[in-house]
Amino acid sequence: MRIVVTGGAGFIGSAVCRHLVTATEHEVLNVDKLTYAGSLTSLAPVSKASTYRFLKADICDADVMATAFRDFAPDAVIHLAAESHVDRSITGSRDFIETNVIGTYTLLETARAYLSELPPSRREAFRFLVVSTDEVYGSLGPEGLFSEDTAYDPSSPYSASKAASDHLAMAWHRTYGLPVIISNCSNNYGPYQFPEKLIPLIILNGLEGKSLPVYGNGSNVRDWLYVEDHAKALLLILKTGQIGRKYNVGGGNERRNIDVVRQICASLDKLHPEGRPHDQLITFVTDRPGHDHRYAIDAQRLEQELGWRAGETFDTGLTKTVAWYLASRNWWQPLRDRVYAGERLGTLPWVATGTG
Ligand SMILES: NC(=O)c1ccc[n+]([C@@H]2O[C@H](COP(=O)([O-])OP(=O)(O)OC[C@H]3O[C@@H](n4cnc5c(N)ncnc54)[C@H](O)[C@@H]3O)[C@@H](O)[C@H]2O)c1
Repeated sequence: MRIVVTGGAGFIGSAVCRHLVTATEHEVLNVDKLTYAGSLTSLAPVSKASTYRFLKADICDADVMATAFRDFAPDAVIHLAAESHVDRSITGSRDFIETNVIGTYTLLETARAYLSELPPSRREAFRFLVVSTDEVYGSLGPEGLFSEDTAYDPSSPYSASKAASDHLAMAWHRTYGLPVIISNCSNNYGPYQFPEKLIPLIILNGLEGKSLPVYGNGSNVRDWLYVEDHAKALLLILKTGQIGRKYNVGGGNERRNIDVVRQICASLDKLHPEGRPHDQLITFVTDRPGHDHRYAIDAQRLEQELGWRAGETFDTGLTKTVAWYLASRNWWQPLRDRVYAGERLGTLPWVATGTG
């Protein structure tokens, strides 16, 4: 297949590109605007391969997308490009609406026009996979799991913009017959994650002896998946998933944030001992506005219908991740120095209370 990967210079997109180029025969066109979150160094392992090419472009630019599709002639799209950090969406939501809503709309329309020119056999085989998040489902109480039938109930500007993207994609399938599939995945972690997200932030602050911020009392629960398991799941869904269907992706690794932070500290104590235990650096800070309490994924459909299994447990994946950051200062130090040094994001001067 010839696959357009949008957002391929980001955390998950680069894992998808590395997997496609090193472990499969598929050809990749990576379309990425290179925002603060995109880094071409994440693609160094594949950038010279004959089956890989890169286009610096904004997915909201309809003319550039049309030309890219015409020139590359894809058989499939894996759409990952997005603004992805909840805290940034709280203090500045415009980019989220533009990329996550207008960007998805632009790609859907680009694909629709492109398909209309294809011969029927290639049109039949075409797939458009929208990579989404479990955050569209909102927050769970102490019990229960998100299934593909759980109603959308997003809490943040980020998750609302991703919900809009999913709704547009499914509407383009129902109305125009676009061969859309949607995946909704839980929190990813692993190598090459931009150091604003919880796990890399804690690893790097711990390495530098800085405080380790935990929002609220640290009891919020996330369901963690190693990024390379996600990349493999996406290819499986693209190849064998049913058009017009959604697939939840999750590793069944529910952890409270405070427990994740403590486990990173224990791992750093072992791999990078510094005299005193790293958990002495933990600091509880003001909670995120609208912070969802718990996410947990029911991935039965993906496992039973498509035969997917995660390869890493949280323990093996986290150890690999800590070891990768210890060995990869050349990747993260320029980002810490020039793009984001670890300051708190997403706080507000006031939040109205008592609103339903
Ligand atoms: N990280 C997670 O835990 C997680 C979990 C589930 C789903 N997702 C979804 O997976 C996708 C990728 O997430 P990520 O964590 O890799 O994000 P990321 O922020 O690391 O990467 C996003 C990439 O998109 C690019 N981009 C942003 N706006 C663009 C635009 N207008 N045009 C072209 N490129 C643009 C950026 O340059 C960057 O390379 C997103 O759609 C996200 O919603 C993420």
